[in-house]
Amino acid sequence: MENRRNFLKKSALASFSASSIISCDQELKNIKKEIPRIISTWNHGLAANNKAWEVLKSGKGGLLAVEEGVKVTEADPNVRSVGLGGYPDRDGIVTLDACIMDKNSNCGSVTYLQNIKHPISVARLVMEETPHVMLSGKGALDFAVSKGFKQENLLTEQSKKDWITWKEKSDYKPIINIENHDTISMLAIDENGDLYGACTTSGAAWKMHGRVGDSPIIGAGLFLDNEVGAAAATGLGEAIIKTSGSAMVVELMRQGHSPMQACKIIVDRISKLHKKGPEWDYLQVGFIALNKNGEYAGYSLRKGFNFSLCDEKNKDLLIDADYKIG
Ligand code: GLY
Repeated sequence: MENRRNFLKKSALASFSASSIISCDQELKNIKKEIPRIISTWNHGLAANNKAWEVLKSGKGGLLAVEEGVKVTEADPNVRSVGLGGYPDRDGIVTLDACIMDKNSNCGSVTYLQNIKHPISVARLVMEETPHVMLSGKGALDFAVSKGFKQENLLTEQSKKDWITWKEKSDYKPIINIENHDTISMLAIDENGDLYGACTTSGAAWKMHGRVGDSPIIGAGLFLDNEVGAAAATGLGEAIIKTSGSAMVVELMRQGHSPMQACKIIVDRISKLHKKGPEWDYLQVGFIALNKNGEYAGYSLRKGFNFSLCDEKNKDLLIDADYKIG
């Protein structure tokens, strides 16, 4: 089987012919499916996965599962890069980005949203109740308020203290670790083999006011194609946007690459593009990917990225992702 897959992958790469792409899809259908399954970025994904799993198993659907799952992280003031308690921008203002996508390629997104604890739920309503995909800033906030969302201060005392300390040097240089710059991205495949994804963040700590990262951009921070698989990103949003990272990972899976191979190819591409740039010293990007059979992977540019897995056999599994540079 593996040889056959490799052959198909090579065929697709060599010619990109329609026939090899169709063959790959057929091949995927013949592999034993490992579903349902949920994967999420970082260790905060463990609690999020548990909630998502509970919703999925209760039969309420994959979309609600990923929404409720990442809401756990958004509400946790100890996660300093998502929702309540997230690090503010360099003006001391917490601004949030989020997006959500379903099996039918419906998607919704909010960017630069302030004072709303659950941007993912606003993103879902953008998807379900507007003719648009993205709402931003005041427009997103007005929409949220019109839908009954409560405005609240998301800058916790701890985040305010950290911001005041940062201001002493005002050195904008994201540090590669979980506490400074990451996102919760969650991918789920349900018992029917249908895919769902959600992604939410407060973005890079100390960013310029108005900056938006990859996380709310469909194709960059999150993408799925229900015929193929899903992918999502974490890390320096600018680098992920420049390669349309998540969409590319999904396209590579369509061509027959495994989730791991697809993530690696895009991380290599990002590495090549940024090697000579001033951001190279602090650049970190990571991807998670899940294909139509439930096969999954996580891979990052630098050591330190981990992701959480939940399925019938593993309820609380934290996996150190493979990486390019140790
Ligand atoms: N990946 C999150 C961001 O760059 O905002």
